[in-house]
Amino acid sequence: MSVTILALETSCDETSAAVVADGSKILSNIISSQVDVHQKFGGVVPEVASRKHLELLNYVVEQALAESGLGFGDLGAVAVTYGPGLVGALLVGVSAAKAIAYGLDLPLVGVNHIESHIYANFTVNPDLNFPLLCLVVSGGHTDLVYMERHGCFRVMGKTRDDAAGEAFDKVARTLGLGYPGGPLVESLAKEGNPEAIKLPRAYLEKGSLDFSFSGLKSAVINYLHRAEQKHDEVNRADLAAGFQSAVSDVLVDKTIEAAAETGISTILLAGGVAANGRLRADLLEKAGKKSLKVNIPPLILCTDNAAMVGCAAYYKFLRDEFAPLTLNAVPDLKLGEERYEGNFRRIIF
Ligand code: KG4
Ligand code: ZN
Repeated sequence: MSVTILALETSCDETSAAVVADGSKILSNIISSQVDVHQKFGGVVPEVASRKHLELLNYVVEQALAESGLGFGDLGAVAVTYGPGLVGALLVGVSAAKAIAYGLDLPLVGVNHIESHIYANFTVNPDLNFPLLCLVVSGGHTDLVYMERHGCFRVMGKTRDDAAGEAFDKVARTLGLGYPGGPLVESLAKEGNPEAIKLPRAYLEKGSLDFSFSGLKSAVINYLHRAEQKHDEVNRADLAAGFQSAVSDVLVDKTIEAAAETGISTILLAGGVAANGRLRADLLEKAGKKSLKVNIPPLILCTDNAAMVGCAAYYKFLRDEFAPLTLNAVPDLKLGEERYEGNFRRIIF
């Protein structure tokens, strides 16, 4: 079935609108980043993010339509991220999507943010064969997800403390690099030797597919404090490179272990941390040695954007999974869960 969807994404600090046809034809994907605004605070300030979304969203939608060459009359549905994320930020997108859907009498599709990160993979490769194993690594999540079919998710492992992106952001702050941490740590790490400073890797109990990054983060902080007390010079590039490779090793090793356990031969990578060059290269190399296929979205579709929302929404549209106009923001929405007003449904096989 053919449908063109206007998708909105405002879950954190990117205001984005996209026009996507049939899940994989991205006619436009406008992303307005608020990085400059939050930089001076060293991280995202939720109230400021909501106000910025409010200021920017109409312009971003106008631009997305203009760039697609289409008008409101060409749309078949409106989609929006309704959780998880910052509640005030989510509300801006949800309210706008509901207004557009109501005004144009179009079906509304509510999309889970983590699901949309996974679906970034289907924008470039709609013919991926199930079952699939997906490593989702973002600022708020680190999940290993088993997908038996479209819309069906089983979390096999997740972080017990910090998400991978959160660890990058905290280490960046400790190293005095600022915000957003991930790309800054990555560029500093390029000048360092990942073997020079040995840092711990938390593999947890045998057979566990969970993750833990708080010990690694503390090890970086302690290393810096000890050096400071002894007035030793620290090679920050070596420290950044050591940290990055410790994160990447655990993420990749556990993903390959999960593939072996489930017998799945195709791995997807998703989320903001999927933009990390070291992680992308390590996964491709180690999975390649085991003859596993790896799918990684282009950089622009790894971090928050509305095209991935339009893609996830397409498959929900095909399954007739529409949201009511009472749709609300759900900041703690879980993967595989729908939480509409008066309707709470879990879709797990
Ligand atoms: O998916 P995302 O854009 O937003 C969330 O849903 O959280 O992910 C943002 C996270 C941040 O923690 C950011 O530091 C991290 O992804 N990130 C990276 C890189 N680019 C973004 N981490 C490591 N290396 C990168 N190149
Ligand atoms: Zn995200």
